[in-house]
Amino acid sequence: ICGFFARKIYRPAVASRRRTGNQGARGMRVIGIETSCDESGVAIYDARAGLLAQRIYSQCSMHAEYAGVVPELASRDHVRRLLPLITEVMRDAGTGWEQVNGIAYTAGPGLVGALLVGASLGRSLAWSRGLPAIPVHHLEGHLLAPLLERPAPACPFVALLVSGGHTLLVRVEQTGCYEIIGETLDDAVGEAFDKTATLLGLPYPGGPALEQLARAGDPSRFSFPRPMVDRPGLAFSFSGLKTFAANTLVEHRHDADQGRLRADVARAFQDAVVDTLAIKCRRALRDTGLGSLVVAGGVGANRALRLRLTELARGEGGEAFFPRAEFCTDNGAMIAFVGCLRLQAGEWARGGFDVRARWPLDTLSAIAPR
Ligand code: KG4
Ligand code: ZN
Repeated sequence: ICGFFARKIYRPAVASRRRTGNQGARGMRVIGIETSCDESGVAIYDARAGLLAQRIYSQCSMHAEYAGVVPELASRDHVRRLLPLITEVMRDAGTGWEQVNGIAYTAGPGLVGALLVGASLGRSLAWSRGLPAIPVHHLEGHLLAPLLERPAPACPFVALLVSGGHTLLVRVEQTGCYEIIGETLDDAVGEAFDKTATLLGLPYPGGPALEQLARAGDPSRFSFPRPMVDRPGLAFSFSGLKTFAANTLVEHRHDADQGRLRADVARAFQDAVVDTLAIKCRRALRDTGLGSLVVAGGVGANRALRLRLTELARGEGGEAFFPRAEFCTDNGAMIAFVGCLRLQAGEWARGGFDVRARWPLDTLSAIAPR
């Protein structure tokens, strides 16, 4: 499946080869720009030295008032943040333009207006500096973010990608070649966290706040269902859990201690999610015969999930890999990293550009090292 669309997008321009052609010997330095949702992220990655600098500006306090991301506000704020972030990151990395070999930006999937801000700035800067621009798939960024850490997982591995918009189990045979072996039929895990957090009266974004509240919860008080675990296969369904939480809150609305009730519901919800993800991850490892489990995406920052999946992978004779918490959620480092890999493989964009609200992960091309 790998290849068709991405090759069309990434095929290198012959004219652009001059600036990048012999970088193998000197290393390769790429700026990454992430603007798919409500985080403006910028980073510089060097193929030899690793991550040189990165900064993230989160808009979440701006969107909190609306209990969700307002796309137009997100786009406008990216416009305000990006140039100062790029200046700061270049200063942090001690990097001048003459040392930059390419500019990577998130081309999708995501909010179209927000994507357009990063894409148009990335392409303009690249054009004005005579550099190649590299459009990056946001989910490939998340999937490969664990490779920024040491020890880095080696392919092949099973990846669990749990973000606000996606819940996927992916078999990664080699970088760029992604086979989706399981996905959610309805809500993504992060979405379920956010919606349940709203029911519990927690501020946006709900995931981290719900995790915090769950710590005070009694794990034995409520038992929520583990959706789809008694069926074969690797599909997920999380929308029912949010309804279960809503019904539990209504049933107990006359309880004297509403604070305790909320903590106990948060705990039961989180335990059900973690348990369900663990059961499916174990199944995916056994089905594929692989030992390495890579966890990525915003929900990967959840400590209960990290602990559980670490134990699970060990129990299966393998190992679990996670990015540091700040690289689980959206960031520029993962975009700079993937941009660098693709540029090293001789892939960048030419001609006009577009961004994509939807972009199937399994249409990308394998990243062939040169
Ligand atoms: O990957 P991400 O930053 O953005 C998307 O690409 O969607 O993921 C954001 C999601 C949100 O739903 C947020 O509530 C969730 O990740 N999240 C968490 C935690 N930190 C972020 N969910 C549970 N526990 C956390 N600690
Ligand atoms: Zn994301």
